[in-house]
Amino acid sequence: MSSDIARPSGATGTTDSVTFWENHYAGVDPQWGTRPNAVLAEVVTALAPGPTGGGGRALDLGCGHGGDALWLASRGWDVTAVDVSATALDRVAAGAAAAGLTDRVHPDRHDLAQSFPEGAFDLVTASYFHTPVETPRDRVLRRAAEAVAPGGLLVLVEHASLAPWSWRDGEKGEEDVRFPSPDEVRASLRLDDGWRTERCDAPRRTASGPGGRTATVTDNVIAVRRLRRRGEV
Ligand SMILES: C[S@@+](CC[C@H](N)C(=O)[O-])C[C@H]1O[C@@H](n2cnc3c(N)ncnc32)[C@H](O)[C@@H]1O
Repeated sequence: MSSDIARPSGATGTTDSVTFWENHYAGVDPQWGTRPNAVLAEVVTALAPGPTGGGGRALDLGCGHGGDALWLASRGWDVTAVDVSATALDRVAAGAAAAGLTDRVHPDRHDLAQSFPEGAFDLVTASYFHTPVETPRDRVLRRAAEAVAPGGLLVLVEHASLAPWSWRDGEKGEEDVRFPSPDEVRASLRLDDGWRTERCDAPRRTASGPGGRTATVTDNVIAVRRLRRRGEV
């Protein structure tokens, strides 16, 4: 599974997202993260099974090696796959070419702290958009909500606990790391009443780590549907 990241090879304490994540991907097996995240696939299958008549636009934020983006494209979505790492995006492009999905996968490099793709999307996803680099995460996720078209869905899948092999924030021990609850994440989006909450919970799953290790971990899952434009009654 792509989410169950081992300690990134970029050193913590690096302040620049590009440097940190390029160092990380330089040391990662290109096959890592090329399969969809199971939780994301489950939520999308249930709530946004696919574009009717083709042409639905999806945006995957912090796509990494593109497991989610490629899976969405295989289901008919036209996917803009965003990451700060050019290395990761090159691998997404290679994966799309190998799968015959080049027409439907559009790698688009952004440091989301600084820029965001233009336009409106029927599905916006962000799976495990976590980074040890100082990043205005709440602001990025609010911008993600703004990018959802009326009728469209925003799906956030996040870590809500640490696997024993995961990287930590500096030297903090596991007991010192506090993850927000799914309700807190949803509240941070500051949605108006033009949205319906489809999922806001914290399921547990078995995560796979290096060397065949496994552990039970918790994810936050937030799926909200935009019913109408901001200000529309
Ligand atoms: C924990 S990985 C998750 C990757 C992928 N979504 C998955 O589930 O396998 C976080 C991803 O966010 C990307 N990222 C981190 N900070 C970013 C930023 N400021 N702008 C764009 N992408 C960023 C990283 O390059 C990395 O690919």
